[in-house]
Amino acid sequence: MGRKLKFNIFRYNPQDPESEPHSDTFYLEETERMTLYIALTRIREEQDPSLTFDFCCRAGICGACAMVINGRPGLACKTLSKEQPDEITLMPLPVFKLVGDLSVDTGTWFRAMNEKVESWVHTDKKMDPTVHEERMDNALAEEIYELERCVECGCCVAACGTANMREDFVGAVALNRIARFIMDPRDERTDKEYFEIVGTDEGIFGCMGLLACEDVCPKDLPLQDQLGILRRQMGWSAIKHLFRMK
Ligand code: SF4
Ligand code: SF4
Ligand code: FES
Repeated sequence: MGRKLKFNIFRYNPQDPESEPHSDTFYLEETERMTLYIALTRIREEQDPSLTFDFCCRAGICGACAMVINGRPGLACKTLSKEQPDEITLMPLPVFKLVGDLSVDTGTWFRAMNEKVESWVHTDKKMDPTVHEERMDNALAEEIYELERCVECGCCVAACGTANMREDFVGAVALNRIARFIMDPRDERTDKEYFEIVGTDEGIFGCMGLLACEDVCPKDLPLQDQLGILRRQMGWSAIKHLFRMK
């Protein structure tokens, strides 16, 4: 027989004026290879069909099932119950707008962030469908791909002290995105243009460098390295700007 697990789950429906934030307790017998996604699905099917949480891929790919698991942001579908104690407390991610219970609206936040840091390749080149694609050095393509693996789950934002205190902070996910475009030879933005986007307190200079973001990233993105590189690059841009160097 498996362990008897106790789940304390945050409940609140912001659409319902009668609803008050509270915690509900559920018990489940642990089964082999049980993930928190499986546990939540069972609780919903067997005990409370009104329980709200997000999921899509069940394989750590879509980023939808992120929540705070015993105080630490993570993906429910990638977290095995056997890695947790007998009592498991689940809360929605902070920073994002609450939809209900464990479901938050990460989409609106990520869209605003992508627009704010202009998260696309900036080039004046016109697309010519009759010519071959431009080749990119394989090693560089791999490096860019490494940073592209972000699934926009929001765990790094939820774990970030600055993002929790300041609504305007773009977060490690945006800084990682900019680092990816700086590497990309197709992006024609200048140092000054990048500086204007992230060389601010809302960007890299608002980051306290304590690296909770990297600790919780379920895709193991090298956020620490990218934040360090970006801080140096933007610091250098600031000096050049100060002395009017090119
Ligand atoms: S290192 Fe910066 S971005 Fe990462 S959690 Fe800390 S303040 Fe946030
Ligand atoms: S950087 Fe990692 S933690 Fe942050 S949104 Fe992307 S995958 Fe999630
Ligand atoms: S359901 Fe897609 S990452 Fe968990």
